[in-house]
Amino acid sequence: MPNILTKNQIEKMKDAGKIVSLCHHSLRDYIKPGITTNAINQFVEKIMIANHSTPEQKGYMGYPYATCTSVNDEICHAFPSDYVVKNGDLLKVDFVVNLNGWLADSAWCYGIGNLAPKTKLLMDTTKECLCLGISQAKVGNRIGDIGAIIQKHAESKGFSVVREYTGHGISRVIHDGLIVPHVGKAGRGQRIKEGMVFTIEPMINEGHYLSKLADDGWTAKTKDGSLSAQFEHTIAITKQGNEIITRQGDECTK
Ligand code: MF3
Ligand code: CO
Repeated sequence: MPNILTKNQIEKMKDAGKIVSLCHHSLRDYIKPGITTNAINQFVEKIMIANHSTPEQKGYMGYPYATCTSVNDEICHAFPSDYVVKNGDLLKVDFVVNLNGWLADSAWCYGIGNLAPKTKLLMDTTKECLCLGISQAKVGNRIGDIGAIIQKHAESKGFSVVREYTGHGISRVIHDGLIVPHVGKAGRGQRIKEGMVFTIEPMINEGHYLSKLADDGWTAKTKDGSLSAQFEHTIAITKQGNEIITRQGDECTK
């Protein structure tokens, strides 16, 4: 069952969202070739703590870190490590801020140094998929409208959409009821209602959409070893449309 939140509750999530946004904003300058994913994880955790919030992912179902730092063919949920990011890498940094019990979740994809043209196209297409998905998240539409537009756009560029991991309702818990697939048929699924808060987080692969789980029990990788990109926002459905509560700047406007 989707959770319907009050304006007041959504305001609290927006405050958590501002800290998520600050973390990602700060990462733009911090991430460069030569840095380890451990350092990136610590950098984010420190910003959360300095802003009186906590990393919700740490300890969530046994997940050990504040962030997920997934590189290249890692789709999502990879552990920070002593891996040194290098020129040409595609790094996805994902985390959830808890501020006074209310959560906000966003993953962002960072291209390290100079990207190969196809890598850049994958990254740009994935961001477009997120924005297109968000454009469909409004009262009167259905959840299937979001996945349909994402799938159409990704496949039009020759890429594929990961099926095993989806967007989700979020509130005081990371996964709150609603499931938001990134593939699907327009006009299908639950009706979108004012007060719903959920993530849209397309994971788009250069090759096949199938994934495999690594031995650590967490890291999802593409089965064929191809690159994967991801962008994620938490959004709240309003009367007019939606509000991106993890907004960093002017993304998904125009
Ligand atoms: N931020 C993650 C997502 O969007 C949710 C928690 S993942 C975990 O899927 F690694 F913490 F478990
Ligand atoms: Co996330």
